[in-house]
Amino acid sequence: MSVTKSFGRGSGGEVLALQDVDLHVGKGELVLLTGPSGAGKTTLLRTIFAAERPEGGEIVVAGRNISRLRRSSIPFLRRNIGVIFQDFKLLKDRSAIDNVAITLDIRGIRRKESHARALEALGAVGLAEAAEKRVSCLSGGEQQRIAIARAVVGVPAILLADEPTGNLDPELSHDILDLLDSISRRGTTVMLATHDPMVVANASCTRLVRLERGRIVAMEQGVRAPIAPPRLLTPTPQGLDAGVLQPAEALS
Ligand SMILES: Nc1ncnc2c1ncn2[C@@H]1O[C@H](COP(=O)(O)OP(=O)(O)OP(=O)(O)O)[C@@H](O)[C@H]1O
Ligand SMILES: [Mg+2]
Repeated sequence: MSVTKSFGRGSGGEVLALQDVDLHVGKGELVLLTGPSGAGKTTLLRTIFAAERPEGGEIVVAGRNISRLRRSSIPFLRRNIGVIFQDFKLLKDRSAIDNVAITLDIRGIRRKESHARALEALGAVGLAEAAEKRVSCLSGGEQQRIAIARAVVGVPAILLADEPTGNLDPELSHDILDLLDSISRRGTTVMLATHDPMVVANASCTRLVRLERGRIVAMEQGVRAPIAPPRLLTPTPQGLDAGVLQPAEALS
């Protein structure tokens, strides 16, 4: 992608939220986006999801330029993208498991299977016990983890995570980082935005990208190599084996 995005600001001119951001992210990478508040992290993630339209540059996802995508094609793009945003948009009067399974239900996967996979995804975020509880009865951190389970259950080609550990204590945060790591090692491209130094210090990423005032000011190699190790050498992460992880769907 190489993108410029600005927001009009009434009479006071405009904010350049992203300026000539040029970034290529390969399959299975886990890219950590960092930078101060207002740097453009959320805006960058939102452009990939076609929630913001850039006015300059282009965004290519799986070989397709999505910057000029027709409105009617956006749902097809989004099927391949899992998102963990701060406004979780959960269905408050439904159970945790219903909220996770819905991703699969709308694809026509049978209820028995969608619920089995949803339960597994809830297990991976430490919430198997809360599966039948109503979302409105759960804490903020628990709701955040349901949103994470919902984002990973369909094994999307791309996972966008905006401050996914924002409401979690350190131990749970580590579990979530491990979950994102394992899903990316299996081929999902993960972009994780955070300004939490704990996440920056602990996340196993292929690259660390620092944004400031809408520009990329630094790009470093992460601790993990971009290419996943041979499958046989990869241990199966707990709670993520079998059903949850099907091969990511190709963009169609
Ligand atoms: N919908 C909007 N309308 C107007 N300005 C916006 C809008 N969304 C973001 N901005 C502005 O664009 C800039 C980048 O915002 P963005 O939310 O991408 O930052 P961020 O790096 O995610 O910050 P934070 O760490 O606080 O979440 C900021 O100056 C912000 O005020
Ligand atoms: Mg943000």
